[in-house]
Amino acid sequence: TFVVGENCIKCKHTDCVEVCPVDCFYEGPNFLVIHPDECIDCALCEPECPVGAIFSEDELPEDQAVFLELNAELAQVWPNITEMKDAPADHADWDGVPGKLQYLER
Ligand code: SF4
Ligand code: F3S
Repeated sequence: TFVVGENCIKCKHTDCVEVCPVDCFYEGPNFLVIHPDECIDCALCEPECPVGAIFSEDELPEDQAVFLELNAELAQVWPNITEMKDAPADHADWDGVPGKLQYLER
């Protein structure tokens, strides 16, 4: 499966959802997740993210291991998203900021 990692938090560009052939992205207030049971590992979404937040499970950085479980958990409670929308106005201020997990809204 592919996994949305920490840099999506408060950046949330949503380009990723437009290319997913199985529509397996789910949307929270300031973060998106991939449903691990629905993802078919096509890899199309990975290069679409302007802030490099998407990884294949195998390449997920060790310090982001918690995001594997977070994607699985939140994909079960958040609504599906299939159409791109505007990123938060301050997205550029948050690109690459370390420790964004503390800002994840549920
Ligand atoms: Fe969707 Fe493919 Fe990305 Fe999985 S790898 S989330 S199927 S675009
Ligand atoms: Fe997040 Fe990147 Fe998609 S910032 S919403 S994973 S395009």
